[in-house]
Amino acid sequence: MKAVILAAGRGTRLEPVTSDMSKCMLPIVGKPLLEHILNSVKKTGIKEIILIVGYKKEKIIDHFNDGAKLGLKINYIEQKEMKGTAQAIGLAKLDTDFLVLNGDTLVSFEDINNIVKNHKTATTIGVMKVENPSNYGVVKIENGNVKAIVEKPKKFVSNLANAGIYVFSPKIFEAIKKTKKSERGEYEITTSIEILIEEGEKIKGIELKNKWSDIGNPWNYLDSNNTILRAMDTKIEGIVEENVQIKGTIILGKNSVIKSGTYIEGPVYIGEDTVVGPNAFIRSFTSLGNNCRVGNAVELKNSIINDNTNVPHLSYVGDSIIGKNCNFGAGTLVGNLRLDEKSVKMRIKDELTDTGRRKMGCVVGDNVKTGLNVMINSGRKIGSNSMIGPGVVIYQDIPKDTFVVKKQELEMR
Ligand code: UD1
Repeated sequence: MKAVILAAGRGTRLEPVTSDMSKCMLPIVGKPLLEHILNSVKKTGIKEIILIVGYKKEKIIDHFNDGAKLGLKINYIEQKEMKGTAQAIGLAKLDTDFLVLNGDTLVSFEDINNIVKNHKTATTIGVMKVENPSNYGVVKIENGNVKAIVEKPKKFVSNLANAGIYVFSPKIFEAIKKTKKSERGEYEITTSIEILIEEGEKIKGIELKNKWSDIGNPWNYLDSNNTILRAMDTKIEGIVEENVQIKGTIILGKNSVIKSGTYIEGPVYIGEDTVVGPNAFIRSFTSLGNNCRVGNAVELKNSIINDNTNVPHLSYVGDSIIGKNCNFGAGTLVGNLRLDEKSVKMRIKDELTDTGRRKMGCVVGDNVKTGLNVMINSGRKIGSNSMIGPGVVIYQDIPKDTFVVKKQELEMR
């Protein structure tokens, strides 16, 4: 069996961290999200992969090449215009049954395997109970058979979401040809599946048993980082100086150094060539990329900090995502809790969205610099290449390529 992975999308809800890469390339614990997906697929015995690529495809192709390094055979199909998941799958044109996965969804190997091994009908779909079904394709199931599938329903249909993992027979290609544009203006695979149901085909729904994350929003990216970190074992390839306290699991990459006086509460991931400390406090579910610097009196918690970024002195970063090549001036602080303790809101595609989290920090793009004593309020975003002058308090989102300075009136006596 071959696997088709849909990786052409841009991930606008994750801006600004996706301004320079497709969301399937977002690093999670040292590997792009897509690599975690490919490793799980490979464990099922599937070796031949078709990657549907589009946005920033060069970076995907550069990284995975022909797949030989992962023990896979990868072929690429370019989706020139993003017209929806049905159009993307339709490009694969296969004549035997095949597995399909969304390239932005983490599914465990056990669940993929279970769906592949139990595929006996025209289509098998992985489903998952969710709290907010209106954000998904929702599936109505009777005795294990899918009776209806409704994309992003406005009224409650069921709390079982389509998890974005399917095994299709070639019958799906006929249904894709008959698929009309949805009210969202896309050719959606859920419409094609609905056509198969109307034509009397048997569609099986299998509930996933393990944690599943769809990396749509920044807070889902943090959740996925947590899921992967939780499953890791300690591996120390770098140097740990004397008087460092380590509790829980830690992965420390080659040539990295944890300097004296540092306190680490795992699970924590630290990439290669990174220096932490002296006297830093790294709390659980933090992932630090390669070639980062985290210095004296810096506290990091539940955050993703990407390659070549420095948080060198007297800073706090919690529940946040920081891009590549950033530099935080001494005293830069991130707020992650509202004073009224209500859930934090974040602007996603111009809409103020409830993150559902009591604690959520900021999202910062690549190449951002902050001056001394910058404060970033909870739920705020700073676009790539922006510079924030000393003493600025970030109460609103800052677009990319912006230089923000604070005006102050001084009284001279
Ligand atoms: C999709 C499903 C939804 C399901 C959810 C699970 C559709 C129409 N909806 O919604 O039923 O509950 O996943 O997470 O499929 N992509 C392409 N080309 C395109 C469009 C998308 O390659 O033209 C890729 C994206 O890069 C992404 C995946 O397909 O990896 C899913 O697309 P996305 O638009 O995120 O779908 P959802 O709204 O999450």
